[in-house]
Amino acid sequence: MRLFVAVDLPATAKDELGGAIERLRPSMPDAKWVPCDNIHLTLSFLGEVAEGRVEEILDALTRAVSPLRRFEAALAGSGAFPTRRRARVVWVGLESDQDQLPALASVVAEGLEPLGFPREARAWTAHLTLARLRTPADVSGLLPIPIEAVRFDVAEVTLFRSRLARPAPRYEAVARVPIGS
Ligand code: 2AM
Repeated sequence: MRLFVAVDLPATAKDELGGAIERLRPSMPDAKWVPCDNIHLTLSFLGEVAEGRVEEILDALTRAVSPLRRFEAALAGSGAFPTRRRARVVWVGLESDQDQLPALASVVAEGLEPLGFPREARAWTAHLTLARLRTPADVSGLLPIPIEAVRFDVAEVTLFRSRLARPAPRYEAVARVPIGS
């Protein structure tokens, strides 16, 4: 199974992002846009994992996030990776008080490390991928992306299974692990 751990978004945030995508679409005809229902905040990408390991992954996630408290986050900011002049990924950011989102990502990565999932060498940044570009393009004229600061509760993390499909991968929630219980 191809697995990743993410914060799922409420419909209010997905709708706002879907609106932004529809407004941007004509300016980036070569981009592959993420269906708004698929948009999520990846905390940790696990890759191919044997089905029999799901239980230990859920145990580790529970141990990692249950001591935390749920918190609020909001859509905020936008940008491109690796740079806005040679963009491969266009994203909308998220903000949280006291860096609670990076802290959540860090706790999840630390919790999964002993199971043999190495931490990413790159620093984690809260981003919601809206589009991917096969050929890097200059998107500086499209940034910042106008977006409502939709607020929502971060009350759980979700273990997702990704099934590669066309035109877009299908993501299925394997289990949801509450924060702070
Ligand atoms: P991205 O949004 O930064 O592209 C499901 O595929 C999620 O896992 C995506 O949101 C993607 O993050 C992330 N992902 C996919 N492949 C990955 C990889 N090889 N390494 C790290 N993250 C990956």
